[in-house]
Amino acid sequence: MARLLAHARFIVGALALMFVVTVAAPASAQQAVRNPDGSVNPTASAVQEDQLLRQLRIIDGRVSIPDKKAGNLEQPAGRDWREFHQKTLPWIAAIVILGMLAALIIFYLTRGMVKIERGRSGRVIVRFNALERFFHWMTASCFIVLALSGLNITFGKLLLAPIFGIDAFAAWSQWAKYAHNYLSFPFTIGVVLILLMWVANNIPNKVDVEWVKRGGGIIGNDHPPAERFNAGQKMIYWIVILGGTASAITGYLLMFPFYATGIEGMQTAQAVHGVVAALFIAAMLGHIYIGTIGMEGAFEAMGEGTVDENWARQHHALWLDEEKARAGSGPRGQVRAAGTPAE
Ligand code: HEM
Repeated sequence: MARLLAHARFIVGALALMFVVTVAAPASAQQAVRNPDGSVNPTASAVQEDQLLRQLRIIDGRVSIPDKKAGNLEQPAGRDWREFHQKTLPWIAAIVILGMLAALIIFYLTRGMVKIERGRSGRVIVRFNALERFFHWMTASCFIVLALSGLNITFGKLLLAPIFGIDAFAAWSQWAKYAHNYLSFPFTIGVVLILLMWVANNIPNKVDVEWVKRGGGIIGNDHPPAERFNAGQKMIYWIVILGGTASAITGYLLMFPFYATGIEGMQTAQAVHGVVAALFIAAMLGHIYIGTIGMEGAFEAMGEGTVDENWARQHHALWLDEEKARAGSGPRGQVRAAGTPAE
C-alpha cells in the first residue's frame, strides 16, 4: 500500500510539473519577445519575423559599408509598391491611354475633320513667331521621348522583352533610361518657358465660359468667338504646366534617390509619376489629334507659324480683330498673301 501511495505521489508530481512547464513556457517566451513596455524586443531569439515587420515596418541588418541603407532586409511597403508597379499601374496606364485612343478614333469617325467652312482665303496671319515654335517643338519632342522611354519601364518587360529577347531588351532599356534622364532637363526648361511665354493668354475669363457653354468649335458646328487661345487650349496649357511640374518634381525625386526623401517617399513619388504620366500622355494625344487630323489648318500654326485668315476668323475671331487693330506696329497682325514672307 505504501509503495502504491509512493507511485501515485510520483505520478501526480510528474503531471503537476508537466502542467507548470506547458503553462509557463509561452509566458516566458512572450517575456523575451516583448519589452516591459509591451513593444517587440528585436533581439529576442524567439521573435517572429512578421511580428517585427508589423511593429517596425522595416527589418534592418548590420552592414560594415558606409551606405547603411544596404542593410535593409525587408519592408512591407516594398511589397505593396511592387504590386502597384507590376499590376495596378500598367492597368491604369493601359485603360487611360488606350481609352483615349479609342475615344479619338470614334470621334474622328463620327465627327471627321473640322473644316475651314469658307475655304482658304489665300491670306495668312502670323500666329506663332520662330522662338515660340522652337520652345514648343523642343518641349514636345522631349515629351515624346520621355513618354516612350517611360512607358518602356511600365510595359517593356511585359510586351517587348518576349519579342526582342532579354539581352536586346536590356540594351534598349539602358539607352531609353539615359534618354529619359537627360531629356528631362530640356523638357523642364521647356515647361518653364511655356509658362512664362503664354501665361498672359491663358488666364480663364468670361469668354471661355461662353465658349464652353456653346460646346466649343469641335463638338457641334457652332464657332463661338475666342481670344488668342480658347477654353480647350487653355485647359491643355494648364495640363502641360501642372502635369509637367508634377512629373518633374516626382521624377527628380527618383533620379536623385535619398536626397530629399526616404524609400517610402520615393515609392509614393514613383506611383504619382506613373499615374500623372499616363494622364499626361492621354491629354497630349487629344492635343496632337486636334493639331493634326482633327482640324484643317491647325498644324500650320505651329509648323510655319501662320494661319489662314478664314481659319482665324472661324476659331479665334476676337484674336484676329485684335491683331488687325495693331497691324501697324510690326509683322504681327499683318494679313498677307499666302507664300509671301513677312517683312
Ligand atoms: C522632368 C521630367 C522627368 C523626370 C526627371 C523623370 C524621371 C523619371 C525617373 C527617374 C523614372 C524612374 C526610372 C526608373 O525606374 O529607372 C521615371 C519613370 C517614368 N517616367 Fe519620367 N521623368 C520625367 C518626365 C516624364 C514625362 C513627361 C513622362 C510622360 C510623358 C514620363 C513618364 C514616365 C513613365 C511612364 C515612367 C515609368 C513609371 C513606372 O512604370 O514606374 N516622365 N521618370
